[in-house]
Amino acid sequence: MNKSVTVSAPGKLMLFGEHAVVYNHPCLVTAVDQRMKATVELLNAQEFQLVAVDVKVAGYKKTLTELGKGNIPKGAQFVEIALKNIAETYPLSSGFKITTSSEFSSQFGFGSSSASTVCTIKAVTELLNLKLSKKEVFDLAFKTVLGIQGKGSGFDVAAAVYGGTLYFVTGGKIIEPLNLTRLPLIVGYSGVKADTVTLINIVKETSDKYPELIESIYTNIEMLVKQAKPAIIAQGWQTVGNLMNVNQGYLEALGVSTKKLSAMIYSAKDAGAYGAKLSGAGGGDCMIALAPEGKRKAVEEAIAQAGGQIISIKTNAEGIRVEI
Ligand code: PMV
Repeated sequence: MNKSVTVSAPGKLMLFGEHAVVYNHPCLVTAVDQRMKATVELLNAQEFQLVAVDVKVAGYKKTLTELGKGNIPKGAQFVEIALKNIAETYPLSSGFKITTSSEFSSQFGFGSSSASTVCTIKAVTELLNLKLSKKEVFDLAFKTVLGIQGKGSGFDVAAAVYGGTLYFVTGGKIIEPLNLTRLPLIVGYSGVKADTVTLINIVKETSDKYPELIESIYTNIEMLVKQAKPAIIAQGWQTVGNLMNVNQGYLEALGVSTKKLSAMIYSAKDAGAYGAKLSGAGGGDCMIALAPEGKRKAVEEAIAQAGGQIISIKTNAEGIRVEI
């Protein structure tokens, strides 16, 4: 049996359908080529050790029987609970040292928590020779993330496991890869870290007050997701851009855009983008824009001028893989 395994998983960007996807509607998500990595080593001691320098965890350890108990530092939660959930189904006969590192900042909203959960599950089960299917890795990782956050659709977990660009319905009811060759997005970071659960709760408050109004927004978002899917496959960028603008309008209506995100989005459109919208929960994190190749530079400059940081990524990246 191997003594150590390293795996990596991509980050993600939401293309269309955020928030609605929490409530049984579809979304479109793409994996990005900045990756999370985890190395898992077998230990003789019945112990869990974690080194996750990116989230300020070093020298963290506890016995396997203590997994999930006591005070868990924020940076250790996802990996530790992932290991606990594995142990519930597949009893562990030895300990593990897990080391994670990321090519992207956990501030961007690229899904570092989900990617580290997915990496942990894949690496530990590989090391134990369990050969889980992608769906089994997804289910265990989604259970872990939901157990910690309490809310969420699992779209970020799916992007980390499957990679590519996915049509995804809440909880993995549908996970359908789109066969794409190109999706040339421009990504701007707002400089503000957003908290997904806080934003979900803000929308929930509005939805509790105006249930039919908000549900009809979700239904309209579902309609545009379903139109965006073939348009993305056909590389009909003008249509995709138009739908991004419509989606952004609904996100404004849900109250999750910010002055800064909107300024970056308007600047991108003024500079010739086909369309632009926030990506993810809102309240900060990133916006995305789609522009004709000849206007790409001008759009990037306009976003930077509005205070955004351009993050250079490739979309449609490969899903989880074992590194040699
Ligand atoms: O905050 P992010 O980038 O993980 O995006 C959240 C998207 C939501 O639809 C609001 C939540 C979810 O889990 O789908």
